[in-house]
Amino acid sequence: MSVLHGKKVLLGVTAGIAAYKTASLVRLFIKSGAEVKVVMTPASKDFITPLTLSTLSKNPVHSTFYDQEDENELWNNHVELGLWADIMLIAPATANTLSKMTNGTCDNLLLATYLSAKCPVYFAPAMDLDMYKHPSTKVSLESLQNFGNIMIPATSGELASGLVGEGRMAEPEDIVDFIEKDILSKLPLKGKKLLLTAGPTYEAIDPVRFIGNHSSGKMGFEIAKAAANLGAEVFLVTGPSHQKVNHSLIHRIDVTSAKDMYEACHQYYNDMDIAICSAAVADYRPKNVADQKIKKKDAALTIELEPTKDILKSLGETKQHQFVVGFALETNDEKANAKKKLEAKNLDAIVLNSLRDKGAGFAGDTNKITIIDADFNEKSFELKSKTEVAKDIINEIVAKIS
Ligand code: CTP
Repeated sequence: MSVLHGKKVLLGVTAGIAAYKTASLVRLFIKSGAEVKVVMTPASKDFITPLTLSTLSKNPVHSTFYDQEDENELWNNHVELGLWADIMLIAPATANTLSKMTNGTCDNLLLATYLSAKCPVYFAPAMDLDMYKHPSTKVSLESLQNFGNIMIPATSGELASGLVGEGRMAEPEDIVDFIEKDILSKLPLKGKKLLLTAGPTYEAIDPVRFIGNHSSGKMGFEIAKAAANLGAEVFLVTGPSHQKVNHSLIHRIDVTSAKDMYEACHQYYNDMDIAICSAAVADYRPKNVADQKIKKKDAALTIELEPTKDILKSLGETKQHQFVVGFALETNDEKANAKKKLEAKNLDAIVLNSLRDKGAGFAGDTNKITIIDADFNEKSFELKSKTEVAKDIINEIVAKIS
């Protein structure tokens, strides 16, 4: 999945011949799962029609502060557009627009939107070779980068004038690739490795029966996605779960029993920077597993259980540099019990959910958590979807380890 998936991309198109390539650019952003809006300078409409770009982006395209053809003359709010965007890209960026951006001129909707944007702004210059080399253009390119904007350099090749040299806008595929790589390189968990347990465990009674629990694994899988979206390489050790995951940074390791989970975790643990145990691991397992299916008899059946190893505790006890996080599902004296677990298992933080809170727990799609750190600082969150809860957990960890 592209790092652009779910991102709001605002494309600013200015009046260069390379504007015809913005149709492909919009297609590529849409294909990567981004939401796209386009603003154009009035003159750029001579090079590509707003209809083409609105059809491809599935959003209206604006080039003026209000739409004259619209009888209600609705104001196109540049501030709103600027704040809407997660990323703004100006491509092609002509010498004229670059110069105006440098000086803070805002005589069109695109420039006013640029000045209002708080997100990272990328620009892909496109002009003839002598314009590109001109000292005033060089000043613009340098100043804009000093302001924090990110340049996607022009390439060399045949230009619209027929001359050959530097000034060609980077190809749409290369622009998207550049932005993806730039975002990835700046993610807060880039280069970090996370060990994560999820789901239930099944403890065999005989070849066809087991002791298990109702954990869906959803919370753990959402944590895996939230961490991977921030650049972490995730080793997801999961018990039997119907959850699916498709992310190049997530390695799924399927296990069945608490023993399998323990062994898989310790296989990876030394290399990890963070460990989060969200699995609902069975605390007990049958002492003897029957080789054959146990036959029904009239007498009562007693199965002797023995404790499983506490995976989280073993990670806490043997940690060197890792930041270790556990979960506590409690029904009473919640915070006191969670703090006891935090200390007993030598954790850096614990995520508490109380079964007394409606919507919390391991079977549904929502959760309500309190995160307690090793100094017993507490942070409580509202009832949220597990997707949002996962982001809160990962953001708290990022804040603690950075
Ligand atoms: N855990 C684990 N291995 C086990 C049991 C639990 O890794 N064998 C982890 C869970 O993934 C969770 C945390 O320990 O992160 C808390 O589990 P919980 O069942 O609430 O606590 P217990 O220590 O088992 O205590 P109790 O059941 O008595 O509340």
